[in-house]
Amino acid sequence: MIPNPQLDAQGRLHHLLAIDGLPRATLLAILDRAESFSREAADGRKKLPLLHGRTVVNLFFEPSTRTRTTFELAAKRLSADVVNVQLATSSTTKGETLLDTLRTLESMQVDLFVVRHKASGAAAFFARHTSPGVGILNAGDGRHAHPTQALLDMFTLRRHLNGRRFADLHVAIVGDILHSRVARSDIHALHALGVRDIRLVGPRTLVPELFTSLGVTVHQDFEASIAGVDVLMLLRLQRERMVGALLPSPGEFHSDFGLTPERLACLHEDVLVMHPGPINRGVELAGALAYAKPSLILEQVHNGIAVRMAVMAEILADPAETRA
Ligand code: NCD
Repeated sequence: MIPNPQLDAQGRLHHLLAIDGLPRATLLAILDRAESFSREAADGRKKLPLLHGRTVVNLFFEPSTRTRTTFELAAKRLSADVVNVQLATSSTTKGETLLDTLRTLESMQVDLFVVRHKASGAAAFFARHTSPGVGILNAGDGRHAHPTQALLDMFTLRRHLNGRRFADLHVAIVGDILHSRVARSDIHALHALGVRDIRLVGPRTLVPELFTSLGVTVHQDFEASIAGVDVLMLLRLQRERMVGALLPSPGEFHSDFGLTPERLACLHEDVLVMHPGPINRGVELAGALAYAKPSLILEQVHNGIAVRMAVMAEILADPAETRA
């Protein structure tokens, strides 16, 4: 049997590279641990000693605001030492290879690298080449995966189930699925939790038919396909990744697929609206809907801290220590 690259010999999480291939029990353990971190923070215990003496490096080869900041805060709240390396401004621009950058930073006795890179597969590449004791946490690799975003989305959703089961939910993911690592990770996470009805909605150029191989349905008619959904996950148009004219214009996207107050009024009153950010007002959704009920956008950002704390603790905390 080929060993799971994300787990160590004892079956504990060593690298978090993708939701695909992550045991369901590990996913649930992360959500439960995040729940207890979140409760502790709500009770005023924001800073915990769990990772005291450990070193985390945020290695970001792509710009990021919420993901990098919440990873930094998560590491600090667990008392780890954390350093941010923004690679556009460091030695890779001087010709150093990725592996030389990794070796150089490893020699500083780093325990965990949080990696974001524009190439799909970059995190797995690091995981294959890093020293045995060092963990790799994927903070987004190309179009491939963004596992902590999916985990925080599931954490946020779970808090709003209100007695429903994941298996009962009807979920629509709307927008630029083609370029979205978030969509891929969310699909795997929703399946792992038992969701059966996942509808991908968008123009054919951004939601090709081949996505049906992931066990989802594909739709081009926004209004017809979101009827009866419990969760609407909106995605940003990733224009920086588009090659050629995949869209007539952002304005036309909004008129065909944007969430407006009128369209929202047609959905049932318990519908939940999510978006990983950054949002484009007037494109994926009308600006007025960004932070008003039923949008969970700011809650998603907030929950990112507890969830990222949970992943870091899962990878780095001594299993003998009391679980949070
Ligand atoms: C996403 C990303 O970078 O993949 N954002 C995020 O992490 N919050 C989605 C996006 O950039 O649109």
